[in-house]
Amino acid sequence: MKAIKVGLLGIGTVGSGTFHVLRRNQAEIKGRAGRGIEVTMVCRRDLAQARQIVGDADVVVTADPFEIIRNPEIDIVVETIGGCDLARSLVLEAIAQGKHVVTANKALLAVHGTEIFAAARAKGVMVAFEAAVAGGIPIIKALREGLTANRIEWIAGIINGTTNFILSEMRSKGLDFATVLKEAQRLGYAEADPTFDVEGVDAAHKLTLMSAIAFGVPVQFDKAHVEGISQLQAADIKYAEQLGYRIKLLGLTRRRDTGIELRVHPTLVPMSRLIANVEGAMNAVVVQGDAVGTTLYYGKGAGAEPTASAVIADLVDITRLHTADPDHRVPHLAFQPDAMSDTAI
Ligand code: NDP
Ligand code: HSE
Repeated sequence: MKAIKVGLLGIGTVGSGTFHVLRRNQAEIKGRAGRGIEVTMVCRRDLAQARQIVGDADVVVTADPFEIIRNPEIDIVVETIGGCDLARSLVLEAIAQGKHVVTANKALLAVHGTEIFAAARAKGVMVAFEAAVAGGIPIIKALREGLTANRIEWIAGIINGTTNFILSEMRSKGLDFATVLKEAQRLGYAEADPTFDVEGVDAAHKLTLMSAIAFGVPVQFDKAHVEGISQLQAADIKYAEQLGYRIKLLGLTRRRDTGIELRVHPTLVPMSRLIANVEGAMNAVVVQGDAVGTTLYYGKGAGAEPTASAVIADLVDITRLHTADPDHRVPHLAFQPDAMSDTAI
């Protein structure tokens, strides 16, 4: 069966991670999806940089993202350009062209999600966004599938890697805020505009998406209470420690009699709690369901390959559900020995 053809809109941190992991693990991915998944077009303005990333792979490189969307050969578009305005136009255009979309862009979905999901429904295509929340942790899948029997009561967590990295490094190494933020940018954790991270906006974007899934409410980012960590000082972190607490930027959403609560703010967490010990760019999400009780999801919340892991999970899901043969619609049980022959023992 012909491979699924993917176009990458943006080949920066997440796009290049996706490109490399897809190629490195192509045999396993093909075995699980039922078809090969190949990136055949990529886009960024810096063409030399794009060519360096794709190396000798047979990939079309362009500076015009619409060229990818309008190419009839492309089956799935991956949006990793970031930002809102251009990304919105690109995603809507891809949907209009009948293409499935995978996006890592929580800002886009928190602001324009209602419009985008409605357009996708009308056209019968998927917009998948596992990578938009908590990086490599499959929390969207957990909420939609694993916990689907539950009435979700609340969700709380560390859902921004950059701020958790900053708080951890300030506490454990005594480094100053600006120095650690620069390091988070160098490591590819921070948003293009890092005020989204440090002011809690990125966490609120993610919280809004989880809340919409958990409680079946519209995406309502503008209703969230948002406070970041930019006003915190090293002394705050030190005094919290002396009192037996760690300061964590938490996102929390819960059902109330009056509606759905959505808030992001620095929180004193007793050191005895698991979540207090989540350090660096790691994320952790706690979900309380009425049937299952408390569940905890932990992993890398930012960075090239952890995020690529989530992007590719969506690519495999779309391939299985919408384009693969029926044998592959049952995840993981659909095993193709031929596709795996070069890795078989
Ligand atoms: P980067 O800035 O590293 O990558 C963005 C890419 O898009 C670059 O290749 C850039 O290349 C390209 N690009 C931007 N504007 C244009 C344009 N007008 N035309 C063509 N290409 C363009 O960002 P990230 O990979 O870090 O983030 C991408 C998305 O993923 C964002 O929505 C982010 O929130 C999300 N995300 C990021 C995570 C992370 O850990 N970094 C984790 C989870 C989600 P050039 O400048 O050369 O055009
Ligand atoms: N800037 C984000 C973070 C990237 O630090 O968590 C992952 O969504």
